[in-house]
Amino acid sequence: MSYSTLRLEVDDDGIALVTINRPDKLNALNSELLGELSSCFTELSENQSVRGVILTGEGPKAFVAGADIGEFVGLSPEKAEKLSLRGQAVFQQIEDLRKPVIAAVNGFALGGGCELALACHIRIAQEGARFGQPEVNLGLIPGYGGTQRLPRLVGLGIATELLISGDMISASRAYEIGLVNRVVGADELLESARSMMTLILSKAPIAVSMILDAVSNLHLPLSDGLKEEASLFGKVFETDDFREGTQAFLEKRRAVFKGK
Ligand code: COA
Repeated sequence: MSYSTLRLEVDDDGIALVTINRPDKLNALNSELLGELSSCFTELSENQSVRGVILTGEGPKAFVAGADIGEFVGLSPEKAEKLSLRGQAVFQQIEDLRKPVIAAVNGFALGGGCELALACHIRIAQEGARFGQPEVNLGLIPGYGGTQRLPRLVGLGIATELLISGDMISASRAYEIGLVNRVVGADELLESARSMMTLILSKAPIAVSMILDAVSNLHLPLSDGLKEEASLFGKVFETDDFREGTQAFLEKRRAVFKGK
Protein backbone atom coordinates (compact mmCIF):
# COMPACT_ATOMS: atom_id res chain seq x y z
CA MET A 1 0.00 0.00 0.00
CA SER A 2 1.25 3.53 -0.64
CA TYR A 3 0.81 6.46 1.74
CA SER A 4 1.01 10.21 1.27
CA THR A 5 2.04 11.22 4.82
CA LEU A 6 4.30 8.22 5.51
CA ARG A 7 7.00 6.26 3.76
CA LEU A 8 7.22 2.52 4.32
CA GLU A 9 10.30 0.58 3.25
CA VAL A 10 10.98 -3.06 4.14
CA ASP A 11 14.52 -4.40 3.77
CA ASP A 12 15.67 -7.96 3.03
CA ASP A 13 16.03 -8.71 6.75
CA GLY A 14 12.34 -7.97 7.35
CA ILE A 15 13.02 -4.64 9.08
CA ALA A 16 10.36 -2.08 8.18
CA LEU A 17 11.31 1.59 8.29
CA VAL A 18 8.29 3.85 8.70
CA THR A 19 9.11 7.53 8.15
CA ILE A 20 6.53 10.14 9.10
CA ASN A 21 6.64 12.50 6.19
CA ARG A 22 5.21 16.01 6.74
CA PRO A 23 8.51 17.81 7.33
CA ASP A 24 7.14 21.25 6.41
CA LYS A 25 4.80 20.94 9.45
CA LEU A 26 7.46 19.24 11.60
CA ASN A 27 5.60 15.95 11.02
CA ALA A 28 2.58 17.12 13.06
CA LEU A 29 -0.07 14.43 13.29
CA ASN A 30 -3.15 15.45 11.34
CA SER A 31 -6.14 13.18 10.88
CA GLU A 32 -4.89 11.89 7.52
CA LEU A 33 -1.57 10.92 9.10
CA LEU A 34 -3.32 9.18 12.01
CA GLY A 35 -5.44 7.19 9.54
CA GLU A 36 -2.40 6.25 7.51
CA LEU A 37 -0.46 5.23 10.62
CA SER A 38 -3.31 2.92 11.52
CA SER A 39 -3.46 1.36 8.02
CA CYS A 40 0.31 1.07 7.98
CA PHE A 41 0.45 -0.80 11.30
CA THR A 42 -2.34 -3.12 10.14
CA GLU A 43 -0.23 -3.83 7.06
CA LEU A 44 2.90 -4.37 9.19
CA SER A 45 1.01 -6.76 11.46
CA GLU A 46 -0.36 -8.80 8.54
CA ASN A 47 2.79 -8.87 6.41
CA GLN A 48 4.58 -12.07 7.44
CA SER A 49 7.87 -10.90 5.95
CA VAL A 50 8.00 -7.94 8.37
CA ARG A 51 9.76 -8.95 11.59
CA GLY A 52 10.35 -5.59 13.30
CA VAL A 53 9.60 -1.89 12.81
CA ILE A 54 11.65 1.29 13.15
CA LEU A 55 9.63 4.50 13.30
CA THR A 56 11.25 7.86 12.59
CA GLY A 57 10.48 11.34 11.28
CA GLU A 58 11.47 12.95 7.97
CA GLY A 59 13.76 15.96 7.97
CA PRO A 60 16.45 17.31 10.26
CA LYS A 61 14.22 18.93 12.89
CA ALA A 62 11.42 16.74 14.12
CA PHE A 63 10.33 13.24 14.95
CA VAL A 64 6.80 14.58 15.46
CA ALA A 65 6.07 18.07 16.87
CA GLY A 66 2.67 17.04 18.19
CA ALA A 67 -0.90 16.68 17.07
CA ASP A 68 -1.75 19.17 14.33
CA ILE A 69 -2.83 22.22 16.35
CA GLY A 70 -4.62 23.66 13.31
CA GLU A 71 -7.15 20.81 13.45
CA PHE A 72 -8.12 21.68 17.04
CA VAL A 73 -9.68 25.00 16.13
CA GLY A 74 -13.47 24.93 16.45
CA LEU A 75 -13.66 21.32 17.69
CA SER A 76 -16.63 20.67 19.98
CA PRO A 77 -15.93 18.85 23.27
CA GLU A 78 -17.61 15.73 21.80
CA LYS A 79 -15.46 15.81 18.65
CA ALA A 80 -12.34 16.47 20.77
CA GLU A 81 -13.08 13.41 22.90
CA LYS A 82 -13.61 11.35 19.74
CA LEU A 83 -10.28 12.59 18.36
CA SER A 84 -8.54 11.62 21.59
CA LEU A 85 -10.08 8.12 21.51
CA ARG A 86 -9.05 7.76 17.86
CA GLY A 87 -5.44 8.78 18.55
CA GLN A 88 -5.30 6.52 21.60
CA ALA A 89 -6.59 3.58 19.52
CA VAL A 90 -3.97 4.11 16.80
CA PHE A 91 -1.15 4.33 19.36
CA GLN A 92 -2.51 1.25 21.15
CA GLN A 93 -2.35 -0.58 17.81
CA ILE A 94 1.38 0.27 17.72
CA GLU A 95 1.98 -0.90 21.30
CA ASP A 96 -0.03 -4.06 20.63
CA LEU A 97 2.04 -5.09 17.62
CA ARG A 98 3.72 -8.33 18.61
CA LYS A 99 6.79 -7.47 16.57
CA PRO A 100 9.36 -5.12 18.14
CA VAL A 101 8.84 -1.41 17.40
CA ILE A 102 11.75 1.00 17.96
CA ALA A 103 11.22 4.77 17.85
CA ALA A 104 14.28 6.45 16.32
CA VAL A 105 13.74 9.98 17.61
CA ASN A 106 15.48 12.40 15.27
CA GLY A 107 14.39 15.77 16.69
CA PHE A 108 11.39 17.30 18.46
CA ALA A 109 9.12 14.69 20.07
CA LEU A 110 6.50 16.94 21.56
CA GLY A 111 2.92 16.35 22.66
CA GLY A 112 1.53 13.62 20.37
CA GLY A 113 5.11 13.02 19.18
CA CYS A 114 6.28 12.18 22.68
CA GLU A 115 3.14 10.06 23.11
CA LEU A 116 3.89 8.27 19.84
CA ALA A 117 7.41 7.47 21.02
CA LEU A 118 5.95 6.23 24.32
CA ALA A 119 3.69 3.80 22.44
CA CYS A 120 6.75 2.19 20.81
CA HIS A 121 8.48 -0.66 22.68
CA ILE A 122 11.94 0.96 22.72
CA ARG A 123 13.15 4.52 22.14
CA ILE A 124 16.54 5.62 20.78
CA ALA A 125 17.18 9.37 20.53
CA GLN A 126 19.78 11.31 18.65
CA GLU A 127 21.71 14.03 20.47
CA GLY A 128 19.74 17.22 20.01
CA ALA A 129 16.34 15.50 20.16
CA ARG A 130 13.92 17.24 22.51
CA PHE A 131 11.04 15.73 24.43
CA GLY A 132 8.05 17.29 26.13
CA GLN A 133 4.33 17.42 26.73
CA PRO A 134 3.71 21.13 26.07
CA GLU A 135 -0.10 20.87 25.96
CA VAL A 136 -0.49 23.04 29.09
CA ASN A 137 1.05 25.92 27.12
CA LEU A 138 -1.98 25.69 24.82
CA GLY A 139 -4.58 25.30 27.56
CA LEU A 140 -4.81 21.60 26.75
CA ILE A 141 -3.94 18.25 28.25
CA PRO A 142 -2.32 15.31 26.43
CA GLY A 143 -4.94 13.21 24.66
CA TYR A 144 -3.03 10.36 23.01
CA GLY A 145 -1.96 8.49 26.14
CA GLY A 146 0.64 10.83 27.66
CA THR A 147 -0.93 11.05 31.12
CA GLN A 148 -0.95 7.25 31.30
CA ARG A 149 2.17 6.00 29.53
CA LEU A 150 4.62 8.67 30.74
CA PRO A 151 4.08 7.94 34.49
CA ARG A 152 4.27 4.20 33.79
CA LEU A 153 7.63 4.67 32.06
CA VAL A 154 9.41 7.31 34.15
CA GLY A 155 7.47 7.27 37.44
CA LEU A 156 4.69 9.46 38.71
CA GLY A 157 6.71 12.36 40.18
CA ILE A 158 8.89 13.12 37.17
CA ALA A 159 6.01 12.51 34.75
CA THR A 160 3.71 14.86 36.65
CA GLU A 161 6.40 17.54 36.60
CA LEU A 162 6.82 17.18 32.83
CA LEU A 163 3.07 17.12 32.23
CA ILE A 164 2.13 20.15 34.33
CA SER A 165 5.20 22.28 33.60
CA GLY A 166 5.16 21.71 29.84
CA ASP A 167 8.96 21.68 30.11
CA MET A 168 10.99 20.53 27.11
CA ILE A 169 13.91 18.26 28.01
CA SER A 170 17.09 17.26 26.21
CA ALA A 171 17.87 13.75 24.97
CA SER A 172 20.42 13.30 27.78
CA ARG A 173 17.82 14.25 30.41
CA ALA A 174 15.36 11.89 28.71
CA TYR A 175 17.99 9.15 29.08
CA GLU A 176 18.56 10.02 32.75
CA ILE A 177 14.87 9.59 33.59
CA GLY A 178 14.45 6.41 31.53
CA LEU A 179 12.34 7.98 28.81
CA VAL A 180 14.81 6.80 26.18
CA ASN A 181 16.93 3.66 26.15
CA ARG A 182 19.93 5.17 24.40
CA VAL A 183 21.26 8.45 23.00
CA VAL A 184 23.44 8.38 19.89
CA GLY A 185 25.04 10.82 17.47
CA ALA A 186 22.72 12.20 14.77
CA ASP A 187 24.48 10.33 11.97
CA GLU A 188 24.28 7.05 13.89
CA LEU A 189 20.56 7.08 14.70
CA LEU A 190 19.15 4.73 12.08
CA GLU A 191 22.23 2.52 12.11
CA SER A 192 21.96 2.18 15.85
CA ALA A 193 18.23 1.38 15.67
CA ARG A 194 18.95 -1.20 12.94
CA SER A 195 21.71 -2.83 14.92
CA MET A 196 19.49 -3.07 18.04
CA MET A 197 16.73 -4.54 15.87
CA THR A 198 19.12 -7.02 14.25
CA LEU A 199 20.17 -8.22 17.70
CA ILE A 200 16.53 -8.69 18.73
CA LEU A 201 15.69 -10.46 15.47
CA SER A 202 18.49 -12.96 16.08
CA LYS A 203 16.57 -14.22 19.14
CA ALA A 204 13.67 -16.69 19.17
CA PRO A 205 10.84 -14.72 17.52
CA ILE A 206 7.93 -16.35 19.37
CA ALA A 207 9.67 -15.78 22.70
CA VAL A 208 10.25 -12.11 21.77
CA SER A 209 6.62 -11.70 20.84
CA MET A 210 5.47 -13.41 24.06
CA ILE A 211 7.67 -11.07 26.10
CA LEU A 212 6.03 -8.07 24.39
CA ASP A 213 2.72 -9.65 25.38
CA ALA A 214 3.82 -10.31 28.97
CA VAL A 215 5.17 -6.80 29.62
CA SER A 216 1.98 -5.30 28.22
CA ASN A 217 0.27 -6.69 31.34
CA LEU A 218 1.95 -4.07 33.53
CA HIS A 219 -1.45 -2.47 34.14
CA LEU A 220 -2.68 -5.66 35.83
CA PRO A 221 -2.28 -6.35 39.54
CA LEU A 222 1.04 -8.19 40.08
CA SER A 223 -0.66 -11.49 40.88
CA ASP A 224 -2.63 -11.42 37.59
CA GLY A 225 0.43 -10.36 35.60
CA LEU A 226 2.37 -13.26 37.11
CA LYS A 227 -0.42 -15.68 36.11
CA GLU A 228 -0.22 -14.37 32.52
CA GLU A 229 3.55 -14.84 32.59
CA ALA A 230 3.19 -18.44 33.77
CA SER A 231 0.63 -19.14 31.05
CA LEU A 232 2.95 -17.75 28.35
CA PHE A 233 5.88 -19.65 29.90
CA GLY A 234 3.86 -22.84 29.46
CA LYS A 235 2.97 -21.99 25.84
CA VAL A 236 6.57 -21.32 24.84
CA PHE A 237 7.37 -24.96 25.69
CA GLU A 238 5.20 -25.97 22.72
CA THR A 239 7.54 -24.26 20.25
CA ASP A 240 10.23 -25.84 18.08
CA ASP A 241 12.40 -22.82 18.90
CA PHE A 242 12.38 -23.76 22.59
CA ARG A 243 13.54 -27.29 21.69
CA GLU A 244 16.16 -25.90 19.31
CA GLY A 245 17.40 -23.27 21.81
CA THR A 246 17.85 -25.68 24.69
CA GLN A 247 19.26 -28.46 22.47
CA ALA A 248 21.77 -26.07 20.88
CA PHE A 249 22.91 -24.97 24.35
CA LEU A 250 23.45 -28.57 25.43
CA GLU A 251 25.28 -29.38 22.18
CA LYS A 252 27.40 -26.21 22.55
CA ARG A 253 26.35 -24.84 19.17
CA ARG A 254 24.54 -21.73 17.95
CA ALA A 255 20.74 -22.06 17.86
CA VAL A 256 18.95 -21.68 14.55
CA PHE A 257 15.50 -20.30 15.28
CA LYS A 258 12.65 -20.68 12.80
CA GLY A 259 9.87 -18.79 14.57
CA LYS A 260 7.88 -22.01 15.01
N1 COA B 1 0.74 21.49 14.68
C1 COA B 1 0.64 22.16 13.52
N2 COA B 1 1.68 22.75 12.91
C2 COA B 1 2.86 22.68 13.52
C3 COA B 1 3.06 22.01 14.74
C4 COA B 1 1.92 21.41 15.33
N3 COA B 1 1.99 20.71 16.47
N4 COA B 1 4.34 22.12 15.10
C5 COA B 1 4.96 22.83 14.13
N5 COA B 1 4.06 23.17 13.18
C6 COA B 1 4.31 23.93 11.95
C7 COA B 1 4.44 25.43 12.21
O1 COA B 1 3.16 26.01 12.32
C8 COA B 1 5.19 25.85 10.99
O2 COA B 1 4.31 25.90 9.90
P1 COA B 1 4.39 27.14 8.84
O3 COA B 1 5.78 27.07 8.28
O4 COA B 1 3.32 26.82 7.86
O5 COA B 1 4.15 28.36 9.65
C9 COA B 1 6.14 24.68 10.75
O6 COA B 1 5.56 23.57 11.39
C10 COA B 1 7.52 24.90 11.32
O7 COA B 1 7.39 25.18 12.70
P2 COA B 1 8.02 26.46 13.42
O8 COA B 1 7.24 26.76 14.65
O9 COA B 1 8.20 27.58 12.44
O10 COA B 1 9.47 25.89 13.80
P3 COA B 1 10.42 26.37 14.98
O11 COA B 1 11.73 25.71 14.74
O12 COA B 1 10.40 27.87 15.11
O13 COA B 1 9.75 25.80 16.32
C11 COA B 1 8.72 24.09 17.69
C12 COA B 1 9.70 24.41 16.53
C13 COA B 1 8.56 22.57 17.74
C14 COA B 1 9.28 24.62 19.01
C15 COA B 1 7.36 24.77 17.41
O14 COA B 1 6.96 24.44 16.09
C16 COA B 1 6.25 24.34 18.34
O15 COA B 1 6.19 24.80 19.48
N6 COA B 1 5.32 23.49 17.85
C17 COA B 1 4.18 23.06 18.61
C18 COA B 1 4.56 22.03 19.66
C19 COA B 1 3.35 21.64 20.48
O16 COA B 1 2.80 22.43 21.22
N7 COA B 1 2.93 20.37 20.34
C20 COA B 1 1.81 19.85 21.07
C21 COA B 1 0.59 20.01 20.28
S1 COA B 1 -0.83 19.43 21.18
